[in-house]
Amino acid sequence: MITSERATFGSKFGAILATAGSAVGLGNIWRFPYMLGANGGAAFLLIYLICVVLLGLPVMISEFYIGKHTHRNAVGAFKEMAPGTKWSLIGYNGVIAAFLILGFYAVVSGWTIEYIIQAFSGTLHGKDAASFQADFEMFSSSTVRPIIWTIAFILLTHVIIISGVKDGIERASKVMMPALFLILIVLCIRSVTLPGAEKGLEFFFNPDFSKITSSVVLSAMGQTFFSLSIGMGCLITYASYFNKTTNIQNTALQVTALDTLVSVLAGVMIFPAVFCFGITPTAGPELVFITLPNVFEQLPLGWLWSVVFFILLALAALTSTISLHEVATAYTHEEFKISRTKAAWLVSAGVMVLGIVSSLSFGVLKDFTIGGLTFFSLLDYVTAKIMLPLGGMFICIYVGYRVDRKILKAELTNEGTLPFYFFNTYAFFMKYIAPIAIAMIFLNELGLINKIVNFFQ
Ligand code: PHE
Repeated sequence: MITSERATFGSKFGAILATAGSAVGLGNIWRFPYMLGANGGAAFLLIYLICVVLLGLPVMISEFYIGKHTHRNAVGAFKEMAPGTKWSLIGYNGVIAAFLILGFYAVVSGWTIEYIIQAFSGTLHGKDAASFQADFEMFSSSTVRPIIWTIAFILLTHVIIISGVKDGIERASKVMMPALFLILIVLCIRSVTLPGAEKGLEFFFNPDFSKITSSVVLSAMGQTFFSLSIGMGCLITYASYFNKTTNIQNTALQVTALDTLVSVLAGVMIFPAVFCFGITPTAGPELVFITLPNVFEQLPLGWLWSVVFFILLALAALTSTISLHEVATAYTHEEFKISRTKAAWLVSAGVMVLGIVSSLSFGVLKDFTIGGLTFFSLLDYVTAKIMLPLGGMFICIYVGYRVDRKILKAELTNEGTLPFYFFNTYAFFMKYIAPIAIAMIFLNELGLINKIVNFFQ
């Protein structure tokens, strides 16, 4: 163990903001509203909130336990807890997932830079809905510009990573997270004061229970997973920088609350605007890059709203790309015993290659498909739909069945100095509820549940 010289976050507040920064990202501001729009509106919100409490929170606490207990990276943690066993495959799964997620996440993050510039230079002004769509497609399918922004975003992430845990990750999150909240709240106020905002708020907050189907429940569970950054060792890595006195229970509660709040605020920002301008809430991935600038352009000082919004999206993405990069960097640095800077360069170089190919898969490599998916969609599919649920399920099984309850309780209560009123409930969830629920998401995402149901019909 290398506990003594190993980096830690400088303060509890810094640790919470950095971890919340990982959780809050494109998943909250882009994916959440789009999933909610496609899955019956407020009914999805309700199920999502239930999943966050019943599934997200216990898994997050478990990842924090593993990281804080071992002070190691995602792979090293399992090597230390269960030496000579195959449990470290959970860690390898996470490191590879981090790499692959970055390979497509950085492309979308790069698009935010293009839109900040376009909004700032007034290029978005005066367009109609059709040209917003056409111009987005033209930009994303072009060869050079999106690649430049993808690389720029990876380098931005890289610079923060090589500045270290405290001076890089923690300091950046301390500035970016409050900025993000401020911008989001300003945009929410603007949105709810638009004429006809009530319709959007009703769509978002007033559930129609008849819309709840098994597929809505499973989609909400999948969103919980992605949004809270659970299942791939990211929270193990961040918790390895917690110091002895960090309160795991409170940190998990606060991070979960912040992440959920940002998703809810994103909904409050987007839906009133969408309804006010008569756009359909099921517009899908277009909602952010095509619909929102269109909406903003129809407001006084439209360019300013667009600039502010895309800065918000870029900040949210950056604190998440940092955490993904850190998973791979910490592993490479610690397990191969090379310097942190060298490790970071290796990761950045690998991610750039993946990023370039994913970016090109919107243009020249559009017809290069594997299993019917472009390279970009393949990375998304393999990570979000296979690797995260699988990793999460095995983390639950490991903590639920392999970890000694006494050691677990001692770590989660800082050697008995903190109360943990619901410990038995938590342990029950880890053993029975969470792994089964995650197994269901996994099977559903692969389409296996449908196949099984059809088999019996
Ligand atoms: N949670 C991040 C988001 O909402 C994405 C992410 C997933 C980050 C997994 C790290 C690990 O955008």
